[in-house]
Amino acid sequence: MSEPTEPNHNQATNATVLVTGAAGYIGSHTCIELMANGFDVIGVDNFDNSEPVVLDRIAELAGRPIQFAELDIRDTEALRKVVSKHSPSAVIHFAGLKAVGESVSHPQKYWSVNVGGTLSLLDAISTSDVSMFVFSSSCTVYGDPAAVPVTETTPVAPISPYGRTKLAAEQAIIDHLSTRDCGGLLLRYFNPVGAHASGRIGEDPVGVPNNLMPFAMQVAVGRRDALSIFGDDYDTADGTCIRDYIHVVDLAQGHVAALKAETDIDSCEIVNLGTGRGSSVLEVVNAASEAVGKPIAHQIVARRDGDAAVIFADTTKAESLLSWSADRTMVDMCRDHWSWQSLNPDGYRTAD
Ligand code: NAD
Ligand code: UD1
Repeated sequence: MSEPTEPNHNQATNATVLVTGAAGYIGSHTCIELMANGFDVIGVDNFDNSEPVVLDRIAELAGRPIQFAELDIRDTEALRKVVSKHSPSAVIHFAGLKAVGESVSHPQKYWSVNVGGTLSLLDAISTSDVSMFVFSSSCTVYGDPAAVPVTETTPVAPISPYGRTKLAAEQAIIDHLSTRDCGGLLLRYFNPVGAHASGRIGEDPVGVPNNLMPFAMQVAVGRRDALSIFGDDYDTADGTCIRDYIHVVDLAQGHVAALKAETDIDSCEIVNLGTGRGSSVLEVVNAASEAVGKPIAHQIVARRDGDAAVIFADTTKAESLLSWSADRTMVDMCRDHWSWQSLNPDGYRTAD
């Protein structure tokens, strides 16, 4: 297993990367991996779903401060000033909203931030020297696939406003980049879980978690009574749904691989980032219980609307195009997620 990369100041690349959503869950882990690999990072975020203290923790783990500007990505002029000042050669675009349920009740907000924000960013870099644009897309664009594993050519059929905004943003990026000399990587993440091995940064959902691992870990730490498992009557070995969980540090390292692959990519490519392995909900709950050292209370309830029974990635393209694969196991994911949750039971809200 590759460890989180230790800071190495000899690996200077002289390349500056603009990272939107730098204070978020995946963004913060990626900033550390980028900085450890010698990239200079200029992060932007409006802290809509994150806390400023994350920046201190990134600096602590990276061994140097992160350059940062607080802004809303829909503020094109503010973005343009950052681009003009720092002259990034690459952009990694994480900033966005990601709660499926909220996207159903507030679709306008999702189209504004996820699509409007992406258009604003494309506008802000339109006359810059950015030569690689990396976008955080999601396996949610595949909806409920007819066959697994899903490849990048599996038909897309998003079933939520969130999924449709991710797909629309992908298409906007493809059209924009076709007019200029800039490569693009549209990375479709599967299910990111886990945390930095230090336990200093991790996922910190606001309110009741929608996703499996954060909910299970909040039960383990005593913030919630029991996990509800949404259905055990699917056509799978134990009746619960199967997903492709990927360690967030593997995912972060996938972004470093994406930038290092830059010279080989001169068009816009879609790439799945997953492990290629599926785990059922009960397998995750059992692995999480092992990591925590006690059973995680759970009950079986009705299916959740919109859940695919089984989805996991075909990782062939990531391996060939990016020379990258995810090697951390479910045991690693649960151990590191538990370190983060147990060291920070209330997330960043009680942080120093
Ligand atoms: P996150 O919410 O932790 O991080 C997103 C960051 O973007 C937050 O820090 C938030 O404050 C910031 N942000 C939101 N709106 C903004 C705006 N208008 N201007 C500036 N900053 C803004 O989410 P994450 O899990 O790190 O996800 C990052 C990206 O990856 C998102 O685009 C998401 O759609 C995508 N993605 C996430 C998952 C997942 O399960 N975590 C899966 C697939 C794809
Ligand atoms: C969810 C999002 C998807 C997003 C993905 C990335 C939905 C419908 N989909 O997918 O758009 O790209 O996260 O992380 O929200 N589960 C429980 N109990 C819980 C929570 C989840 O049993 O309290 C089950 C779900 O039914 C599912 C599995 O755990 O089978 C994983 O759920 P979740 O973590 O929400 O991820 P996805 O459903 O894959």
